Amino acid sequence: MRVQDIIAIKRDGGELDPEQIRFFIGGYTDGSIPDYQAAALAMAIMLRGMEPDELSVWTDAMLHSGSVVDLSMIPGVKVDKHSTGGVGDKISICLAPAVAACGVPVPMISGRGLGHTGGTLDKLESIPGFSVDQPVERFCELVAKHGLALIGQTEDLAPADRKLYALRDVTGTVPSIPLISSSIMSKKLAEGMDALVLDVKVGAGAFMKTEPEARRLAETLVGIGSRAGKRVSALMTRMAEPLGEAVGNANETIEAIEVLKGRGPADVTELTYALGAEMLVLGGKAESAAEAREKLGEAISSGRALQTLKDLVAAQGGDAEAMDDYSRFPGAAHTIDVGSAEAGVVQSIDAAEVGIGGMLLGAGRQVASDEVDHGVGVTVHKHVGDEVAEGEPLVSLAYNADGGLTDATNRILDAYTIGPDPVAKGPLIIDVIRSEPA
Ligand code: URA
Repeated sequence: MRVQDIIAIKRDGGELDPEQIRFFIGGYTDGSIPDYQAAALAMAIMLRGMEPDELSVWTDAMLHSGSVVDLSMIPGVKVDKHSTGGVGDKISICLAPAVAACGVPVPMISGRGLGHTGGTLDKLESIPGFSVDQPVERFCELVAKHGLALIGQTEDLAPADRKLYALRDVTGTVPSIPLISSSIMSKKLAEGMDALVLDVKVGAGAFMKTEPEARRLAETLVGIGSRAGKRVSALMTRMAEPLGEAVGNANETIEAIEVLKGRGPADVTELTYALGAEMLVLGGKAESAAEAREKLGEAISSGRALQTLKDLVAAQGGDAEAMDDYSRFPGAAHTIDVGSAEAGVVQSIDAAEVGIGGMLLGAGRQVASDEVDHGVGVTVHKHVGDEVAEGEPLVSLAYNADGGLTDATNRILDAYTIGPDPVAKGPLIIDVIRSEPA
């Protein structure tokens, strides 16, 4: 089999057969197929797309490019959540312990920040001592003992995706629905979950800017999961403006802890309940969303959800006392307010620009080798629909080095559109797409 023939089939709009797909993924993983041929095929897939059967085989080949975790010895339906990425999205940190505290095991393998979006691993690493690098055996032990684990992708899980993702990042082939879907689902299927809830973000701060695009992504993800025999639900959720008030790392982790104390911002709390309810229903711990919400509310008000997080933090080497004493988190030496140039009502906020502003302060990476400064970030004071007076702070910026400050300030100011008219926000949960029960 010649790789150039496989590339040519896809270039001309054809469908790859299972043998060709497995030959390609195997060869790319073991290094016998070079990056330049993989880049050509990725671009052909990006332009020509993939048929559902073809995409299922492609995902399965990526999934089996490494080892697959077996959690079958842990009783119960193991349910994970994955977000397609947004700005201010700290939900995993409050959601996973809340769901685990209701008896659903959550085996969660998360990622790092990507482009303008933050990553759960970077946020978790703001907890002093917390280690996201846990071997697979320890991952299984944590899920068995604490009902959850929050770790990073290990070397041997879906290595084809790790290579292909890095290549796509530098060859203009990230925004392809088949490539994004297979990338996400190969990793999730490799971690040993039984069911998955997806948070497919839509809007300025998401990779999918429009509802039709996000719906296609959601349907494709759910389709891959169903074909692999898993129950999958995808919530399409609004990501037009930053979620909550905190954008950064330590500040976002603290905001997530506040949700577990019943004091989180309304949108972060509501999304936690909506995703958590879906997880509890899939995990067989509630018959309906209403019952699930009640259980989540009890886990939070009783303090069990917070205790679950504290226990896990200690088990992963972190400082559990920081959950109550936020001064133990890394901080920033300076804070400034960024005031509105005009009076009016916030019409829109380009969340991606706020994310880039945070990144310029050091909360994210401009190149892969950059170190994240966990203590810096943005606090969003004004959201869409809020009234603002001239000079009133729209956001505050917390920073240590002032190198990126001017650029961050300008980008965030430009991200706000202020106008005279009242604005109605769209719904937070736009739609839910569910696989059929098996
Ligand atoms: N997240 C992933 O894991 N992969 C993609 O391709 C895009 C977002």
